[in-house]
Amino acid sequence: MAKYKALLTPDFLAKADRSRGRLIFKQTCATCHRLFDEGGDIGPELTGSQRSNLDYVLENVLDPSAVFAKDYQVTVLETKDGRVLTGIIKQENDRVLICRRKTRK
Ligand code: HEC
Repeated sequence: MAKYKALLTPDFLAKADRSRGRLIFKQTCATCHRLFDEGGDIGPELTGSQRSNLDYVLENVLDPSAVFAKDYQVTVLETKDGRVLTGIIKQENDRVLICRRKTRK
């Protein structure tokens, strides 16, 4: 955190290449996050998030498991026929379990 905070000064950020940033976001983050009009829905939508708060962004990118909402906790399941699935439980009752998994676009 300290290393990147020291690097990302207001002057440095003012010179940032936003279109390259957008491209990196698209390649690295948009599989899971929606920002404005595109992206996935595995993670929370980031359009209204505190994107201008450096601490918030660094914390979530560098140490994503430090703070997270229970709704996004990943569960590893083993089925009776021996398959292992990893995903986020969306709904569960005596008969049905709905588990959302990351899909490739
Ligand atoms: C594999 C899916 C995945 C990818 C890829 C991913 N994230 Fe996330 N992200 C999540 C999930 C799930 C959460 C919610 C749980 C948590 O807060 O850790 C989250 C949470 C966040 C949050 C906090 C949102 C909130 O409402 O509190 C931020 C900010 C964030 N991610 C930014 C990013 C950025 C920037 C990238 C790309 C560098 C990225 N994420 C890549 C899945 C992903």
